[in-house]
Amino acid sequence: MFKAVLFDLDGVITDTAEYHFRAWKALAEEIGIAGVDRAFNEQLKGVSREDSLKKILALGNKTVSDESFAALAKRKNDNYVEMIQDVSPQDVYPGILTLLKELRSHGVKIALASASKNGPFLLERMGLTDYFDAIADPSEVAASKPAPDIFIAAAHAVGVTPEDSIGLEDSQAGIQAIKDSGALAIGVGRPEDLGEDIVVVPDTSHYTFEFLVKVWSENKD
Ligand code: BG6
Ligand code: MG
Repeated sequence: MFKAVLFDLDGVITDTAEYHFRAWKALAEEIGIAGVDRAFNEQLKGVSREDSLKKILALGNKTVSDESFAALAKRKNDNYVEMIQDVSPQDVYPGILTLLKELRSHGVKIALASASKNGPFLLERMGLTDYFDAIADPSEVAASKPAPDIFIAAAHAVGVTPEDSIGLEDSQAGIQAIKDSGALAIGVGRPEDLGEDIVVVPDTSHYTFEFLVKVWSENKD
Protein backbone atom coordinates (compact mmCIF):
# COMPACT_ATOMS: atom_id res chain seq x y z
CA MET A 1 0.00 0.00 0.00
CA PHE A 2 1.08 3.56 -0.61
CA LYS A 3 2.02 5.59 2.44
CA ALA A 4 1.67 9.11 1.10
CA VAL A 5 -0.16 11.06 -1.57
CA LEU A 6 1.69 14.04 -3.01
CA PHE A 7 -0.68 16.64 -4.42
CA ASP A 8 -0.04 19.21 -7.05
CA LEU A 9 -2.31 22.21 -6.43
CA ASP A 10 -3.10 24.29 -9.52
CA GLY A 11 -5.38 22.22 -11.73
CA VAL A 12 -5.58 19.33 -9.25
CA ILE A 13 -7.08 20.76 -6.07
CA THR A 14 -8.75 23.73 -7.73
CA ASP A 15 -9.10 25.56 -11.03
CA THR A 16 -6.26 28.04 -10.52
CA ALA A 17 -4.40 26.62 -13.56
CA GLU A 18 -6.94 28.65 -15.54
CA TYR A 19 -6.00 31.86 -13.70
CA HIS A 20 -2.29 31.24 -14.30
CA PHE A 21 -3.09 30.84 -18.01
CA ARG A 22 -5.15 34.05 -18.16
CA ALA A 23 -2.51 36.03 -16.30
CA TRP A 24 0.31 34.81 -18.57
CA LYS A 25 -1.75 35.41 -21.71
CA ALA A 26 -2.55 38.97 -20.59
CA LEU A 27 1.11 39.67 -19.80
CA ALA A 28 2.30 38.23 -23.11
CA GLU A 29 -0.19 40.36 -25.04
CA GLU A 30 0.88 43.48 -23.14
CA ILE A 31 4.44 42.96 -24.33
CA GLY A 32 3.42 42.09 -27.88
CA ILE A 33 3.82 38.30 -27.77
CA ALA A 34 1.05 36.38 -29.49
CA GLY A 35 0.65 32.60 -29.31
CA VAL A 36 0.11 31.98 -25.61
CA ASP A 37 -2.90 29.81 -26.37
CA ARG A 38 -4.18 26.70 -24.63
CA ALA A 39 -1.91 24.39 -26.61
CA PHE A 40 1.20 26.42 -25.67
CA ASN A 41 -0.10 26.60 -22.11
CA GLU A 42 0.38 22.83 -21.74
CA GLN A 43 4.12 23.64 -21.70
CA LEU A 44 3.63 26.23 -18.95
CA LYS A 45 1.53 24.11 -16.59
CA GLY A 46 3.48 23.09 -13.51
CA VAL A 47 6.46 25.20 -14.52
CA SER A 48 7.82 27.81 -12.10
CA ARG A 49 7.06 31.52 -12.52
CA GLU A 50 10.57 32.29 -13.79
CA ASP A 51 10.74 29.33 -16.19
CA SER A 52 7.27 30.16 -17.52
CA LEU A 53 8.34 33.71 -18.31
CA LYS A 54 11.50 32.41 -20.02
CA LYS A 55 9.38 30.15 -22.25
CA ILE A 56 7.05 33.03 -23.17
CA LEU A 57 9.95 35.36 -24.01
CA ALA A 58 11.54 32.60 -26.11
CA LEU A 59 8.22 32.14 -27.93
CA GLY A 60 8.28 35.84 -28.84
CA ASN A 61 12.04 35.84 -29.57
CA LYS A 62 12.46 38.56 -26.96
CA THR A 63 15.30 39.20 -24.57
CA VAL A 64 14.94 41.57 -21.65
CA SER A 65 17.22 42.93 -18.93
CA ASP A 66 17.26 41.19 -15.55
CA GLU A 67 15.42 44.18 -14.15
CA SER A 68 12.56 43.99 -16.66
CA PHE A 69 12.44 40.22 -16.24
CA ALA A 70 11.83 40.64 -12.51
CA ALA A 71 9.28 43.40 -13.14
CA LEU A 72 7.38 41.24 -15.66
CA ALA A 73 7.31 38.24 -13.31
CA LYS A 74 6.01 40.50 -10.56
CA ARG A 75 3.37 42.02 -12.82
CA LYS A 76 2.05 38.58 -13.74
CA ASN A 77 2.00 37.49 -10.12
CA ASP A 78 0.26 40.68 -8.93
CA ASN A 79 -2.46 40.11 -11.51
CA TYR A 80 -2.74 36.42 -10.57
CA VAL A 81 -2.88 37.20 -6.84
CA GLU A 82 -5.71 39.62 -7.51
CA MET A 83 -7.60 36.86 -9.36
CA ILE A 84 -7.33 34.39 -6.47
CA GLN A 85 -8.48 36.66 -3.65
CA ASP A 86 -12.00 35.25 -3.68
CA VAL A 87 -11.06 31.57 -3.84
CA SER A 88 -13.12 29.76 -1.20
CA PRO A 89 -13.93 26.21 0.01
CA GLN A 90 -16.55 26.08 -2.75
CA ASP A 91 -13.77 26.15 -5.34
CA VAL A 92 -12.23 22.84 -4.25
CA TYR A 93 -12.52 20.43 -7.18
CA PRO A 94 -15.01 17.53 -6.99
CA GLY A 95 -13.86 14.58 -4.91
CA ILE A 96 -10.80 16.23 -3.41
CA LEU A 97 -12.17 16.93 0.06
CA THR A 98 -13.58 13.40 0.35
CA LEU A 99 -10.24 11.99 -0.79
CA LEU A 100 -8.32 14.05 1.79
CA LYS A 101 -10.64 12.80 4.54
CA GLU A 102 -10.34 9.18 3.44
CA LEU A 103 -6.56 9.37 3.22
CA ARG A 104 -6.43 10.73 6.75
CA SER A 105 -8.76 8.07 8.08
CA HIS A 106 -6.54 5.39 6.53
CA GLY A 107 -3.38 6.93 7.98
CA VAL A 108 -1.96 7.89 4.58
CA LYS A 109 0.24 11.00 4.72
CA ILE A 110 -0.72 14.02 2.66
CA ALA A 111 1.79 16.49 1.24
CA LEU A 112 1.67 19.41 -1.16
CA ALA A 113 4.17 19.33 -4.03
CA SER A 114 3.24 22.53 -5.85
CA ALA A 115 5.64 24.81 -7.70
CA SER A 116 3.57 27.76 -6.59
CA LYS A 117 4.66 30.22 -3.94
CA ASN A 118 0.95 31.02 -3.57
CA GLY A 119 0.18 27.44 -2.46
CA PRO A 120 -0.08 28.06 1.30
CA PHE A 121 -2.38 31.08 0.72
CA LEU A 122 -4.67 29.02 -1.53
CA LEU A 123 -4.88 26.10 0.90
CA GLU A 124 -5.90 28.59 3.60
CA ARG A 125 -8.53 30.18 1.36
CA MET A 126 -10.01 26.74 0.61
CA GLY A 127 -9.93 25.68 4.26
CA LEU A 128 -7.64 22.74 3.47
CA THR A 129 -4.44 23.58 5.35
CA ASP A 130 -5.16 21.25 8.27
CA TYR A 131 -5.43 18.20 6.00
CA PHE A 132 -1.82 18.58 4.90
CA ASP A 133 0.95 16.98 6.92
CA ALA A 134 3.53 18.99 4.97
CA ILE A 135 3.87 21.62 2.29
CA ALA A 136 7.10 21.32 0.32
CA ASP A 137 8.59 24.78 -0.18
CA PRO A 138 9.29 25.38 -3.90
CA SER A 139 11.84 28.07 -3.07
CA GLU A 140 13.90 25.51 -1.13
CA VAL A 141 14.37 22.95 -3.90
CA ALA A 142 17.32 23.08 -6.29
CA ALA A 143 15.39 22.48 -9.51
CA SER A 144 11.75 22.99 -10.38
CA LYS A 145 9.40 20.67 -12.33
CA PRO A 146 10.05 18.74 -14.59
CA ALA A 147 12.89 17.94 -12.15
CA PRO A 148 11.69 15.54 -9.43
CA ASP A 149 12.97 17.61 -6.48
CA ILE A 150 9.66 18.97 -5.18
CA PHE A 151 8.06 15.50 -5.10
CA ILE A 152 11.10 14.04 -3.36
CA ALA A 153 11.01 16.90 -0.84
CA ALA A 154 7.26 16.45 -0.27
CA ALA A 155 7.60 12.70 0.37
CA HIS A 156 10.57 13.17 2.69
CA ALA A 157 8.74 15.93 4.56
CA VAL A 158 6.19 13.33 5.67
CA GLY A 159 8.81 10.66 6.36
CA VAL A 160 8.01 8.51 3.34
CA THR A 161 10.07 7.55 0.28
CA PRO A 162 8.78 8.63 -3.14
CA GLU A 163 8.63 4.92 -4.06
CA ASP A 164 5.90 4.51 -1.42
CA SER A 165 3.94 7.50 -2.72
CA ILE A 166 1.36 8.43 -5.32
CA GLY A 167 1.64 11.80 -7.07
CA LEU A 168 -1.39 13.59 -8.51
CA GLU A 169 -0.77 16.01 -11.38
CA ASP A 170 -2.41 17.85 -14.29
CA SER A 171 0.77 18.91 -16.09
CA GLN A 172 3.35 17.36 -18.41
CA ALA A 173 6.17 18.84 -16.33
CA GLY A 174 4.66 17.48 -13.13
CA ILE A 175 4.09 13.98 -14.50
CA GLN A 176 7.74 13.85 -15.58
CA ALA A 177 8.76 15.04 -12.11
CA ILE A 178 6.68 12.33 -10.41
CA LYS A 179 8.07 9.61 -12.67
CA ASP A 180 11.66 10.66 -12.03
CA SER A 181 11.05 10.85 -8.28
CA GLY A 182 10.07 7.18 -8.20
CA ALA A 183 6.47 7.84 -7.14
CA LEU A 184 3.45 6.52 -9.06
CA ALA A 185 1.84 9.21 -11.22
CA ILE A 186 -1.92 9.42 -11.72
CA GLY A 187 -2.75 12.27 -14.08
CA VAL A 188 -5.88 14.36 -14.42
CA GLY A 189 -6.63 15.70 -17.88
CA ARG A 190 -6.24 14.19 -21.34
CA PRO A 191 -3.95 11.26 -22.19
CA GLU A 192 -3.00 13.18 -25.39
CA ASP A 193 -1.45 15.84 -23.15
CA LEU A 194 -0.18 13.73 -20.26
CA GLY A 195 0.88 10.49 -21.93
CA GLU A 196 -0.58 7.11 -22.72
CA ASP A 197 1.86 5.30 -20.41
CA ILE A 198 0.27 6.35 -17.12
CA VAL A 199 -3.25 6.25 -15.69
CA VAL A 200 -5.04 9.50 -16.53
CA VAL A 201 -8.54 10.38 -15.29
CA PRO A 202 -10.72 12.97 -17.03
CA ASP A 203 -11.56 14.91 -13.87
CA THR A 204 -10.87 14.85 -10.13
CA SER A 205 -14.13 13.13 -9.20
CA HIS A 206 -12.31 9.95 -10.29
CA TYR A 207 -9.64 10.50 -7.63
CA THR A 208 -11.29 8.32 -5.00
CA PHE A 209 -9.43 6.41 -2.30
CA GLU A 210 -10.71 3.16 -3.77
CA PHE A 211 -9.43 4.10 -7.24
CA LEU A 212 -5.99 5.02 -5.91
CA VAL A 213 -5.80 1.65 -4.12
CA LYS A 214 -6.77 -0.10 -7.36
CA VAL A 215 -4.20 1.74 -9.49
CA TRP A 216 -1.53 1.10 -6.87
CA SER A 217 -2.29 -2.62 -6.70
CA GLU A 218 -2.20 -2.89 -10.50
CA ASN A 219 1.09 -1.02 -10.82
CA LYS A 220 3.10 -1.47 -7.66
CA ASP A 221 2.05 -4.33 -5.37
C1 BG6 B 1 2.38 25.81 -10.72
C2 BG6 B 1 1.52 26.27 -11.86
O1 BG6 B 1 1.61 25.10 -9.81
O2 BG6 B 1 2.96 26.93 -10.06
C3 BG6 B 1 2.30 27.16 -12.80
O3 BG6 B 1 1.06 25.13 -12.55
C4 BG6 B 1 2.93 28.31 -12.03
O4 BG6 B 1 1.43 27.65 -13.79
C5 BG6 B 1 3.78 27.76 -10.88
O5 BG6 B 1 3.75 29.10 -12.88
C6 BG6 B 1 4.40 28.86 -10.02
O6 BG6 B 1 3.38 29.54 -9.35
P1 BG6 B 1 3.53 30.94 -8.63
O7 BG6 B 1 2.16 31.13 -8.00
O8 BG6 B 1 4.62 30.80 -7.62
O9 BG6 B 1 3.85 31.95 -9.67
MG1 MG C 1 -0.87 21.81 -11.83
